[in-house]
Amino acid sequence: MSADDARWMGAALTLAGRGRGQTDPNPSVGCVIVRDGRVVGRGWTQPGGRPHAEAMALIEAGAAAKGATAYVTLEPCAHVSPRGPACADLLGAAGIGRVVIAHIDPDPRTHGQGAARLGNAVFLDGRAAEAAHTMEGFFSRLARGRPHVTLKLATSLDGGIALTSGESQWITGPRARAHGHLERARTGLIVVGRGTLEADAPRLDVRLPGLEARSPLRAVLTRGAAPDGWLTLPSPGAIARAAVDHVLVEGGAGAASAFLSADLVDRLLLYRAPILIGAARPALGDIGLDHLADAHGRWRLADSRLLGSDRLDVYERVRD
Ligand SMILES: NC(=O)c1ccc[n+]([C@@H]2O[C@H](COP(=O)([O-])OP(=O)(O)OC[C@H]3O[C@@H](n4cnc5c(N)ncnc54)[C@H](OP(=O)(O)O)[C@@H]3O)[C@@H](O)[C@H]2O)c1
Repeated sequence: MSADDARWMGAALTLAGRGRGQTDPNPSVGCVIVRDGRVVGRGWTQPGGRPHAEAMALIEAGAAAKGATAYVTLEPCAHVSPRGPACADLLGAAGIGRVVIAHIDPDPRTHGQGAARLGNAVFLDGRAAEAAHTMEGFFSRLARGRPHVTLKLATSLDGGIALTSGESQWITGPRARAHGHLERARTGLIVVGRGTLEADAPRLDVRLPGLEARSPLRAVLTRGAAPDGWLTLPSPGAIARAAVDHVLVEGGAGAASAFLSADLVDRLLLYRAPILIGAARPALGDIGLDHLADAHGRWRLADSRLLGSDRLDVYERVRD
């Protein structure tokens, strides 16, 4: 496997990120078709999951696909669906000379069969972990029967999420809030607790220019009934029934604690503003912890950056 293969696969992985949150319940896949060192086709999974990345890239490549190399972040599908042909057949019919795949498809309808049908496919194991990352929601559904869950918290330096009066708008600045909107655009469903719905009446839509159409579904965690326009989530575990790959929990403390107690949080987004607010509502309540030792080793820092004057720390749940 050459350095060029790894580089082109990097481009396909970047394209895969474009569909995240839009392709549920299908994974978001990226595809780049390269001929004589030049990209002749690019594709990513379209909203609703079809057409697939390979079909889009092949349309762009046209006749230039013949003899070219296709880089795909997930093994091309082997099954024909009422919504489209099998991508392994499409690539074969277009005369693609070689197919480089970052990750095998865990879906039993394809698992290994897409690559076998192609006959000219190779796996680029070195980028499999990154590919899995771009499809973590889809993989979570297949492996654990539930979507991937991100918990977002915006706190002061001393860990408050609101004044004791309940006022929480705004703790963080515009760049951190814009980043939060980008996270919304990359998710299928946003959840808030009933307390937050009543305190803040949040819209939970995406207000970034050009991405307004990517606003996700909204749900309220409540043992009661959600108002019109909102889905009711009767318990954190009920996310398993939502036909989405990614869920974003936006608080407040009750909802955040409920998801953590159920060990349903895979990723934490901690936006921390350089302010002290003293007596305040804490970010979390009881999360079912008996011993401090049990709190250690659960979270791994995956990213840390400044957004204006706020700091974003991204943590991933360490699971065996
Ligand atoms: N800074 C931030 O990042 C941020 C983000 C969001 C909110 N906030 C602030 O947080 C405050 C609200 O927090 P909060 O803790 O009072 O309310 P909350 O977490 O928004 O909502 C609590 C409600 O969630 C439901 N709930 C909790 N656990 C549940 C479970 N296991 N199963 C089913 N339903 C469950 C219950 O609703 P029912 O009683 O209806 O059953 C509970 O009353 C507000 O001041 C808001 O401004 C801050």
